[in-house]
Amino acid sequence: MTDSLAGHTALVTGASSGLGRHFARLLASRGVKVAIGARRMDRLVTLAEEIRASGGEALLVELDVTDEASVTQAVGQSADALGGLDILVNNAGIVIAKPALEMSIDEWDAQIATNLRGVFLVARTAARRMAEQGGGSIINIASIAGLRTGGHISAYAASKAGLIHLTRNLAIELARSNVRVNALAPGYIETELNAEFFASKAGEELIKRIPQRRLGRPEDLDGPLLLLASDASRYMTGAVLVVDGGHSVNPL
Ligand code: NAI
Repeated sequence: MTDSLAGHTALVTGASSGLGRHFARLLASRGVKVAIGARRMDRLVTLAEEIRASGGEALLVELDVTDEASVTQAVGQSADALGGLDILVNNAGIVIAKPALEMSIDEWDAQIATNLRGVFLVARTAARRMAEQGGGSIINIASIAGLRTGGHISAYAASKAGLIHLTRNLAIELARSNVRVNALAPGYIETELNAEFFASKAGEELIKRIPQRRLGRPEDLDGPLLLLASDASRYMTGAVLVVDGGHSVNPL
């Protein structure tokens, strides 16, 4: 790998919306051949058309990260069709915000199944291909919720804390295979899904606790994501890159 990403290959999970969609477009704009994976194929069609219209290369892959057979099929299809797999953006994730006392065990299981078990399944399967081809870069999308506490997000926060420690442990196991494993931990990023909340009184109060006094924008993650994807971060593995406007180090 060189610092340039052109001609490299990537799989982005959960690419049908939000940050996954953004990361897929970003990588494609740098010349990366991108496999976009999600359960909602109809939404992927539009994204693939957008990427191709701007001169990029995109492959549609049906993928449910909670299903081992689906993960095996999707990773194999991506690596075979693109001619290898250099980068994995393990982005798919869900949050069910609820007080712990009201959380059903199915709601707990669903968040762990996607955010922790799913991240392991995709990372393990992709790392096998990467090790065979001589290396690669895995970027697990964490959250500052995996480092700090928050209201009504116990399962989500636990899953992201697990993802962060999984990242470190995979990093040491895979270092000799030249597969780097890092986590990107965003703070609150404004998307369609949370725009309404952040316009509310409670949302405004939350923004006041962010030292930079604003929410993140998807573009704020571009530099850190490209760094971890490229060989510019060749000596980084097991790192957790926090991108949150100072939110997680706000004063007591
Ligand atoms: P989103 O809900 O728009 O995107 C999540 C994507 O994951 C969706 O496309 C969804 O269909 C997909 N997904 C869920 N379960 C799946 C499964 N079983 N198989 C395949 N795909 C599945 O949310 P957003 O905000 O774009 O989140 C993306 C990642 O970023 C998540 O891991 C989230 O925890 C993380 N994150 C988001 C932050 C934010 O403020 N938006 C802050 C910190 C982390």
